[in-house]
Amino acid sequence: MSSPSQYFTTPIFYVNDAPHIGHAYTEVATDVLARWNRQRGTDTRLLTGTDEHGQKILRTASAHNTDPQAWADKLVREAWEPLLAEVNISNDDFIRTTDERHEKGVQAFLQKLYDDGYIYAGEFDGLYCVGCEEFKTKTDVAEGTGAFAGEQVCKIHSKPLELLQEKNYFFKMSAFQDRLLALYEERPDFVQPASARNEVVAFVQQDLADLSISRTSFDWGIPIPWDNSHVTYVWFDALLNYITALNYGTEDESLLERYWPANHIVGKDILRFHAVIWPAMLMAAGLEVPKHVFGHGWLLVGGEKMSKSKLTGIAPNEITETFGTDAFRYYFMRAISFGQDGSFSWEDIAARYQAELANGFGNLASRVLAMNAKYFDSAQPESAESAAADRAIAELVADVVARAEAAIDRFAIHEALAAVWEIVDALNGYITEQEPWVLAKDAAQRDRLGTVLATATEGLRALAVLLNPVIPVAAEKLWVALGAADAIGALNEQPLGEVGNWGQLPAGTKQTQLEVLFPRVEINEAK
Ligand code: ME8
Ligand code: MG
Repeated sequence: MSSPSQYFTTPIFYVNDAPHIGHAYTEVATDVLARWNRQRGTDTRLLTGTDEHGQKILRTASAHNTDPQAWADKLVREAWEPLLAEVNISNDDFIRTTDERHEKGVQAFLQKLYDDGYIYAGEFDGLYCVGCEEFKTKTDVAEGTGAFAGEQVCKIHSKPLELLQEKNYFFKMSAFQDRLLALYEERPDFVQPASARNEVVAFVQQDLADLSISRTSFDWGIPIPWDNSHVTYVWFDALLNYITALNYGTEDESLLERYWPANHIVGKDILRFHAVIWPAMLMAAGLEVPKHVFGHGWLLVGGEKMSKSKLTGIAPNEITETFGTDAFRYYFMRAISFGQDGSFSWEDIAARYQAELANGFGNLASRVLAMNAKYFDSAQPESAESAAADRAIAELVADVVARAEAAIDRFAIHEALAAVWEIVDALNGYITEQEPWVLAKDAAQRDRLGTVLATATEGLRALAVLLNPVIPVAAEKLWVALGAADAIGALNEQPLGEVGNWGQLPAGTKQTQLEVLFPRVEINEAK
């Protein structure tokens, strides 16, 4: 990921219902990657948004006795936009597929592909799942049980599939089979993680069919520009958000030039759309394919994917109201290997909150600042001659920065965070060993006391910068208490790559009291 700019995207979410922690999880992970890159000093853009067309939304709106636009407006305002504040997402833009800029861009794209001979009229005859908004092949179909016995159901939604027979326009996706296979071959990290890549390759190696991209049986969608009796297939419409948000197809494509191609973060449920259909569409239009498509794992409930349709969703605020926004972000980034499935449990988040955030990091920060207050009148102590133990801390920080940077470039957020936590643990161990409270009793050890606390405080400075992408609220509080904002500038401006440069906080820098970063949570209150 070492290019002059970086563009990170989340999926755009269906507005059929309110978000659960699965959606918040994708948002947070993508936000951490974007914030990390900004902290590096990289020109970075973060996009998220909502997917509002198609039959699923149309039917949801009808079921609520309203029209789809009014329904989408309500859900965006009351559920999806508030989610971003709830988990502290630093998006630069929010795109809705009902935005005029998007609809125009989609039509420009369709017209170009049509003019260039990549779209043709045909007959579609097959099974469709409205829950997935996807045409299904034999391998996606299961035998229904219970109320649906004797019917063919979707393997994901366990609901009957609908037989679709209509005149459609088709995208010549089959023409891109060889180029897609060459792409996966030449760029093994195009699709990540590796397990996901293998699935995608196997899928494309089978016969890659052309894709039906229009529908005539309902009108909640973007009209096909040369034939208004059709609306655009919702996925073809939705995928284009990543470039319409950069003003694709308009007179000013400077954002597209500046930020494209993107890093797409998606759940593995929709990896195929992003790793097969989307690059084929881009190839047809003569645009660059994405840098990376990363398919993360699922949050599970009782061993099954948490989902809106199965009503197993946990609302993000159930967690943030007890533990706070930072802890929500930290927990999911730390506890789950990014790319693998993970289970959420109240016991687990409560335990990590107490051990890692409150006792590990929060206590460390407050102890060091309290000792500076007591022994040095709340000023950054002078560092005298350094000992091996002090140099070991500085060396560890430099080493952690290098390892965390490399981990982020592999989308291994959990590894980056685990590396940063080595500093927390090392500093706690350092203080226990150096016993500043013992040094303080001996006037002859005054220089040594200063060096130890200066080292520990420099460690806190490093932690504030390294943790800013993950727990920005706590990191900022610490930064302010360290006096760093006045002495060396805004936290967001601190280059992550220079965190290991030791001695940045000038001796004498005035510090202020740190409020408790992670206050005690009554575990019984948690569900
Ligand atoms: O698929 N665990 O939208 P969607 C982790 N509109 N992540 C989860 C999750 C879980 N249990 N459940 C959902 C769509 N997600 C399309 C996308 S993009 C051009 C169009 C997250 O509302 C995860 O990111 O069904 C998943 O890919 C996404 O929500 C699906 O959201
Ligand atoms: Mg879904």
